[in-house]
Amino acid sequence: MSETLVTPKVLSQPELSLMEERPEPCALVILGGMGDLAHRKLYPTLAYLHQQNLLPSSYAVVIVARRDMNDESLRQNIGESLAKAGIKEIPAGFLERLFFVNGDLSDRDFYARLKTRLQELSKDMRLSGHLFYFATSPTLYPVILRKMAEAGLNNQEGLSTWPRVIIEKPFGTDLESAISINKEIHSILPENQVYRIDHYLGKETVQNILILRFANTFFEPAWNRDHVDHVQITVAESIGIEGRGPYYDQSGILRDMFQNHLLQLLSLVAMEPPARFQADPISDAKINILRAIPDMNAQNLVLGQYAGAQIDGKYLPGYREETGISSDSRTPTFAAAKLEVDNWRWHGVPFYLRSGKRLPRRVTEIAVHFKHVPVSIFKPLLAEELAANTLKLRLQPDEGVSVSFETKHPGSKISLSTVTMNFDYYKAFGISQPEAYARLILDAFIGDRTLFTRSDFVEEAWRVLAPVLEAGNKSKIIPVRPYGLTGGDWGPHGVGELLVRDGRTWDHF
Ligand code: BG6
Repeated sequence: MSETLVTPKVLSQPELSLMEERPEPCALVILGGMGDLAHRKLYPTLAYLHQQNLLPSSYAVVIVARRDMNDESLRQNIGESLAKAGIKEIPAGFLERLFFVNGDLSDRDFYARLKTRLQELSKDMRLSGHLFYFATSPTLYPVILRKMAEAGLNNQEGLSTWPRVIIEKPFGTDLESAISINKEIHSILPENQVYRIDHYLGKETVQNILILRFANTFFEPAWNRDHVDHVQITVAESIGIEGRGPYYDQSGILRDMFQNHLLQLLSLVAMEPPARFQADPISDAKINILRAIPDMNAQNLVLGQYAGAQIDGKYLPGYREETGISSDSRTPTFAAAKLEVDNWRWHGVPFYLRSGKRLPRRVTEIAVHFKHVPVSIFKPLLAEELAANTLKLRLQPDEGVSVSFETKHPGSKISLSTVTMNFDYYKAFGISQPEAYARLILDAFIGDRTLFTRSDFVEEAWRVLAPVLEAGNKSKIIPVRPYGLTGGDWGPHGVGELLVRDGRTWDHF
């Protein structure tokens, strides 16, 4: 059974645009503006926002790179890059908002030149703020922050416009390095001017977790240890590491996905209702969940690494065969973990998390499994056990929400079937999910930090993972077993056992 539970209210793109707040005039400075992130995500997103008329009435994008370029060749370069990204028609007036500044990010003179350029643009275009997007390697963050402060780019002096910084993960590689980066940041900017991106928070379906929970009444009474048996969070990818060998081999799945995306999802599902729908009350509630999670331990963790596989006549290399990865690397590309949230609401309810690359399908889902009925009055009549109810939040792809329940199978005898009621985003709203970066960039322009990660969340997330961060890699506490696509392999040997020993099984896709 599949039914849409909402009355579809189809909004057109212009209607949606009218509902958005328009930011005040400002400049976006992209440091590392010729890099992969900028070309793959930022320029297509900015072009989309421009086309939707969502950017400020006056704005400049100042692109910084160490290249021999000027405004004209920059615009040509980005025009070509947008065309390659499949944007057939570049929105009118977009390329003219792009400006180039050549610079070495470790050179003090560059920051003085950047400041002069920003002063000129601010005056000509009447800009009232400047946002610095760090699209560089995180190893450069401390240098950039110090030089920005030396040049006075971190305050209004000389520029008379407000500064903000947007930072991409990884925010450190462990608790110690995260504390040190946060200290460095706070020495030049207060936390409320720092926008740490976790792109999962920009996804519509992830934002919807709080709407589902706190704009409805009927979920809340059942959202606790009395009614919930366990929760499964799956973030599976079918792709491998896609040429990101050197980065990935230093990170592995725990740093790349668990420390950020998976713990964000867990905290949104488990948090108490915040007092208001605002950045700090929401962050406080999420961090309280992380604080209630005991340090992870090796008994509750299974690790794996994808092996080579022959799929549809094509050989897909194993992780150790990828470019830049050594043949004895022990970096995990898959992890499954059992976590507890030890507070009054969740004591005794396990949260099972799993994420991996090169799994049979791309699927991100949160499944809330409710308890079985206490006593089945149908027992003498039925051969099979009653299935417990589940609520599934399908975050991507096939975005939606579904509820499963038991129902009477038509006929004279008592025979039951498990059926599903389904809400499908696309059918309900008639638009596909916008790119997460569009929401996040717009919010940073507006100054809304609700969907960004606060420094204490970053640190608390590293604290949860600390004991097992090196479990696969150097310490060899846990074996890193191979897994492959052949035969629909959803992780290495031992992953099923993590639930089976608790009398449960993983959801299948
Ligand atoms: C990134 C990770 O943060 O998220 C990548 O670094 C991963 O390794 C990506 O592929 C997954 O994002 P999405 O939006 O495709 O689920």
